[in-house]
Amino acid sequence: MKITYKTLAGRLAKTDLVVVLASKNKKPKLPEGVSVPPNALASFGGEARETRLTDATQGPAKRVLFIGLGGGKSVAPEIVRRAAAIAVRKAEKTDTSSLTFWIGLAFGSQATTLGQALAEGAVMGSYRLRTFQSTAKAATLTRITIQADQVVNGGARRGEIIGRGNCLARRLQDTPANKMRPRDMVREARKIARDSPRITARIHDEKSMADLKMGSLLSVSRGSTEPAYLIHLVYKPAGKVRRRICLVGKGLTFDTGGISIKPSARMGEMKYDMSGGAAVLGTFQALAGLLPDVEVHGLVPTSENMPDGNAVKPGDLVTACNGLSIEVLNTDAEGRLILADALAYAVKKVKPDAMIDLATLTGAVVVALGHELSGVMGNDQSLIDALVSSGETTSEAVWPLPIIDFHKKDMKGKVGDLRNISSPGTGAGSSTGGAFLSYFSGDTPWAHLDIAGSAWGATNRDYQGGAMGTGVGVRLLVDYLENQ
Ligand code: BES
Ligand code: ZN
Ligand code: ZN
Repeated sequence: MKITYKTLAGRLAKTDLVVVLASKNKKPKLPEGVSVPPNALASFGGEARETRLTDATQGPAKRVLFIGLGGGKSVAPEIVRRAAAIAVRKAEKTDTSSLTFWIGLAFGSQATTLGQALAEGAVMGSYRLRTFQSTAKAATLTRITIQADQVVNGGARRGEIIGRGNCLARRLQDTPANKMRPRDMVREARKIARDSPRITARIHDEKSMADLKMGSLLSVSRGSTEPAYLIHLVYKPAGKVRRRICLVGKGLTFDTGGISIKPSARMGEMKYDMSGGAAVLGTFQALAGLLPDVEVHGLVPTSENMPDGNAVKPGDLVTACNGLSIEVLNTDAEGRLILADALAYAVKKVKPDAMIDLATLTGAVVVALGHELSGVMGNDQSLIDALVSSGETTSEAVWPLPIIDFHKKDMKGKVGDLRNISSPGTGAGSSTGGAFLSYFSGDTPWAHLDIAGSAWGATNRDYQGGAMGTGVGVRLLVDYLENQ
């Protein structure tokens, strides 16, 4: 799907469908030369998400789709994002191949932001899960034009890049686990680096990780025939580097639980256990287009978690690369084991000013926050505040959860320094998961995003597809990085 940008100086070109955004109780302005039947807008109020589709009686567009943005002094970006997604979905349903967003509304001081939201919504709304069905049809909508003033277009070009980053993350998420193995994550990372002169990829294989003494990470892949990797992407801006940020994403391409095996019901959803890694890769693709002025490192520890004769057993002792020994009391708490080595590696080798990990870490966060929010915790309040603020800006909401000393103490081991699960009566599963990770962040400002709820299964957004992956994290991280 290709997006073309045009200004309002030119007339509307030939198109199957022109989309006109409408404010509440205001007569929508049509592009010059386009007319619709006299009663086409009868009882159309312009409420947010309200639509009206009509044939054009005259002009270069075959049909006109009006979409309401609601009333109020300013328009929320999320309303525009959803409106754009509604438009492309309607186009898909009505066999439309070309669509033009004609933005005659004056967005004023919000022009860049709303332009960005419009393109994000259009790109994200047109995402389709690549099915492997023999009868699958190609997408009908192939051309989108955004016709708006230059400031709106500037925002929209950014929104297109960010939206495509989100779709990359979702493609990786939704791809079945036998086709998105650790080695496939590596291939995707290499491609992102190959496509950008500013991004390099370094891949640590199991041999290299053994040399680095990553016994915690390596314990997770022992039960799998697929080798684990640690992907290390680096984005370097053209100018002088003022800040260096490290992103770390859990890339568990399938989590059976290992010897502490999961129940079979819904185990198939565990292909999504690489969603943190997908968000990091999607963010890097966006960085290549946006070129912000900050150095960014992306670490994706990627592995399968399988039961097998060689698999790590409950009670086994492993040692991470910062020297801490860990009793693996539950092999299903494996995300923290691969993140432990990745975080310690970041502290030692990357030495970032701040690091943020994203992980589908705990079922507990789904209970606490559901599918609309990610949990955030860490050791640095201003970093947490910045992420909460980016969550508000992007509508990828994050909500703070505590890590208290009690949680940290509860993760201390009897045989080793640490254990990978808390004692049975403690509860607060997301916090104790975070508390475990805190032992590997050292003095580096660090935040942990638990995205187990928000990474898939959200049903409340027009630009997402129900039970599928959401690509959560890409828009949030891009906003955070651009604020550096
Ligand atoms: N990948 C899971 C977390 C998860 C569960 C994500 C359900 C989304 C939905 C993680 O590896 C895991 O199994 N965590 C355990 C930790 C427990 C054993 C301390 C969990 O949450 O049950
Ligand atoms: Zn698990
Ligand atoms: Zn997991």
